[in-house]
Amino acid sequence: MRAPVVFARVHSLVGCNKAFQRRWQHTKPFYITTPIFYPNAAPHIGHLYSAVIADSIKRYYQLKGETALLLTGTDEHGLKIQQAAAANDMEPIVFCDQISQRFKVRLMDLADKANIQYTTFMRTTEARHHKAVAKIWSILEENGYIYKGKHEGWYSISDEAFYTSGQVQEAVDEKTGKKVMVSVETGQPVEWTVEENYKFKLSACQDDLRAWLSSNPTAVVPQNRMREVQSWIDMGLADLSISRPRSRLTWGIQVPNDPDHTIYVWLDALVNYITATGYPWADNQEGIKNGWPADVHIVGKDIVRFHAIYWPAFLMAANLPLPKQIVAHAHWTMNKQKMSKSRGNVVEPMAAMDYFGVDPVRYYLLRDGGLADDGDYSHEAVMVRYKKDLAGQLGNLLARCTAPALIPSGMVPVYNENAVTKDDHVLQDQLKALPDLFCDRFEDHEYGKALQAIFDVLSEANRHFTDNQPWNLIKDPEQKARLNQVLFYSVESCRMAGILLQCVMPEKSDGILNRLGVDIKERTLAQAHFGTGWPTMEQHRQLGISHSPVIFPRIK
Ligand code: MSP
Repeated sequence: MRAPVVFARVHSLVGCNKAFQRRWQHTKPFYITTPIFYPNAAPHIGHLYSAVIADSIKRYYQLKGETALLLTGTDEHGLKIQQAAAANDMEPIVFCDQISQRFKVRLMDLADKANIQYTTFMRTTEARHHKAVAKIWSILEENGYIYKGKHEGWYSISDEAFYTSGQVQEAVDEKTGKKVMVSVETGQPVEWTVEENYKFKLSACQDDLRAWLSSNPTAVVPQNRMREVQSWIDMGLADLSISRPRSRLTWGIQVPNDPDHTIYVWLDALVNYITATGYPWADNQEGIKNGWPADVHIVGKDIVRFHAIYWPAFLMAANLPLPKQIVAHAHWTMNKQKMSKSRGNVVEPMAAMDYFGVDPVRYYLLRDGGLADDGDYSHEAVMVRYKKDLAGQLGNLLARCTAPALIPSGMVPVYNENAVTKDDHVLQDQLKALPDLFCDRFEDHEYGKALQAIFDVLSEANRHFTDNQPWNLIKDPEQKARLNQVLFYSVESCRMAGILLQCVMPEKSDGILNRLGVDIKERTLAQAHFGTGWPTMEQHRQLGISHSPVIFPRIK
């Protein structure tokens, strides 16, 4: 059977689009990391947020045809875990093997449920990690960056960090009403600590750090975080305590050749990013082959200092390549308040995904989550996104334009380049611009705006469909060609949206693309361009048979 109208494949944008060109920039696996999570508390929506951002980036680069690696895991050493173990009357190792194991299972369950495709799950208690930490310590020592000194300061167990007197302030403990000292930055309680420990010459890295940031203006994003990091450097960096006496901190990796000292938990934890690439490598080439330097470290705003100052300083001092980018996201609040167990406002991610479905939650987190500013989570807001965007725009358009009443043959409608009306042009121009707009915003980590670009086009596509009234066109045999053209635009809008949305909503996109009969091999970013991948005159294509035509069913 021949198609009733002439199809012209649209080549103009395909060969020269920016997304396609960008594909050749990477010569190593694209490597993304999430923070490694403390195993002493149940995973919450904030943890899921880090993981969904990281996973969406991984899927994005895979759609561009790259190999991508994603690391996640658990941060199991330190005083925080030691004390949690003591509170449970357990040895830390038993605590970690039981509680952490349970947490790991919960974290993995969460990751599996949320379709987080991690390639490595790292536990800092693994032997390969101990080896990597001991090695980097020895190199820092050999390179003259470590010395023994007395350290006095305010220590926060919760943050596992020392603060200077200028970084703490008085506050009133909510529970006891007593005056306590807390960190200005995080609000966590601190205690005065005097001890002998090993120090890292962070002060010696100050100029190199400043130069690195000024020659890599997107090394830390968003801009407000970059400015914060620059101002910390400008205020002057004091040397950093990188061990604790064994008498205080037993639960950690021993300083090589000094059984009285345990390596500072943040040095230990940060090294996990290279452990996962097989560090110690035979040479840097091996590191590159395995993904290092990381392309993107995803971190929460509270741990920027560790990732944008301490981590690059350690790497510089060890002559190792620096990560390409640190992306710091803001936090999720609930009722505009920090989530906390005691306030009872912690959002349980499993329950949210059970209720709305996995992909709608992923979509909501990326659409409304803040990078620069905190986002306020509410189930009502997820529902609004579900009803308005997902069911209202995308699901509705897909159902309407593939309805058997309008396409009784089940054949994918084809495009007639010679019959484009003024009205069609409005939508067509938006469709042509969409892939680059989406890719630019996504690569700039403006996920909400990238998704908005898709839904702006879908809104225009819905308008185009409604204004052209295909339900009337089908009644008039003379309007057959016009009907096809009108349906083509809606189907094409859904196809392009389906391809682009794969990174954020993998399952729903799969359903959409199956419904449209888009071959599994024709779902890459290069095929997200207007007119790409549709049948020629010789290759007609059937819409897919959908067992569940409603992609976004009504939620009660
Ligand atoms: N173990 C360290 C990270 C070491 S990485 C070498 C850690 N762990 S954590 O479990 O406390 O936090 C993990 C991540 O969750 C951090 O990036 C943190 O910012 C993030 N979040 C914690 N609460 C959050 C919200 N309410 N909202 C969004 N993210 C949140 O820090």
